[in-house]
Amino acid sequence: MTIEKIGVSGAGVMGTGIAHISAVAGFAVVLRDIKEEFTEKAFRRIEELLSRSVEKGRLTEEEKGRVLSRVTVTTDAAPLADADLIIEAVVEDIDLKKRVFSELHGICKPDAIFATNTSSISVTEIASGSGRPELFCGLHFFNPVHRMRPVEIISGAQTEARVIDAVKAFAEAIGKVPVHVKKDSPGFIVNRLLVPYLNEAVRLVEEGVASPRDIDTAVELGLNYPVGPFKMIDTGGVDLTVKVLDRFREAFADEGYAPRETLREMLESGRIGRKSGEGFYKYGDD
Ligand SMILES: NC(=O)c1ccc[n+]([C@@H]2O[C@H](COP(=O)([O-])OP(=O)(O)OC[C@H]3O[C@@H](n4cnc5c(N)ncnc54)[C@H](O)[C@@H]3O)[C@@H](O)[C@H]2O)c1
Repeated sequence: MTIEKIGVSGAGVMGTGIAHISAVAGFAVVLRDIKEEFTEKAFRRIEELLSRSVEKGRLTEEEKGRVLSRVTVTTDAAPLADADLIIEAVVEDIDLKKRVFSELHGICKPDAIFATNTSSISVTEIASGSGRPELFCGLHFFNPVHRMRPVEIISGAQTEARVIDAVKAFAEAIGKVPVHVKKDSPGFIVNRLLVPYLNEAVRLVEEGVASPRDIDTAVELGLNYPVGPFKMIDTGGVDLTVKVLDRFREAFADEGYAPRETLREMLESGRIGRKSGEGFYKYGDD
């Protein structure tokens, strides 16, 4: 299974990042979204990231031009037809993801590998609507894509071993460290460990044990984590934290995963973190 051409469906935060690093690594990339304003924005973002690399001396102007020439943006699905690997990064909605893969199955080469960047939906379930569950896996990148080194590669119930091998080789070729998640389980590895820990940090505040700022300081210095739990919740969003906890609670039928009351209240009042200007901390225009 040779991977030379990459198709990315969804040119938002993640899709753009995935297209960028794939093109830098020498792959031809087709990046697709539903509106031209989104694909144009994505292309400008890739240009901007490359210009920054030029400024830092990591890339020459000529190399930047060559990388950009490997990126095609489109609102049409047809240019994805000859891609060897399709990475889906559309919004986190099961019905939409299934629709996207069903359309792609009709267009793409029969041996093309399909991968989803979902963070919380079952890979096996998305694969069930893809027409090729044996050639399907999860490929979970972290944000920001160009900085975060690991990628979780998730086997769905029917994923063939050769698909995992090919996707691992691709991940290494784009400079990532692949981690194989052998069983499709909610949150995979990183979010399964992270999100309950964030919830527990909120419980500490509710119990009056310490303030968010002091807990962040304790974790950053005591555990050597780059950011503490409250800065982390504010960056990812209270909405996303609540959504993932609700999913865990349902999937594992365990009330221990229920989002803490404080998170629910913050969500209801719209204090959802950095993107709303306030979460556990207040944010200016920075
Ligand atoms: N943002 C993160 O930190 C992060 C991290 C890991 C994984 N993820 C996952 O990656 C996926 C994308 O997240 P994001 O943050 O980039 O979202 P986003 O909202 O920034 O981008 C999603 C894009 O999908 C496009 N889209 C919608 N319908 C489409 C269709 N039919 N065909 C093609 N494009 C379509 C939207 O127009 C939008 O540009 C989600 O599944 C999310 O859970 C996100």
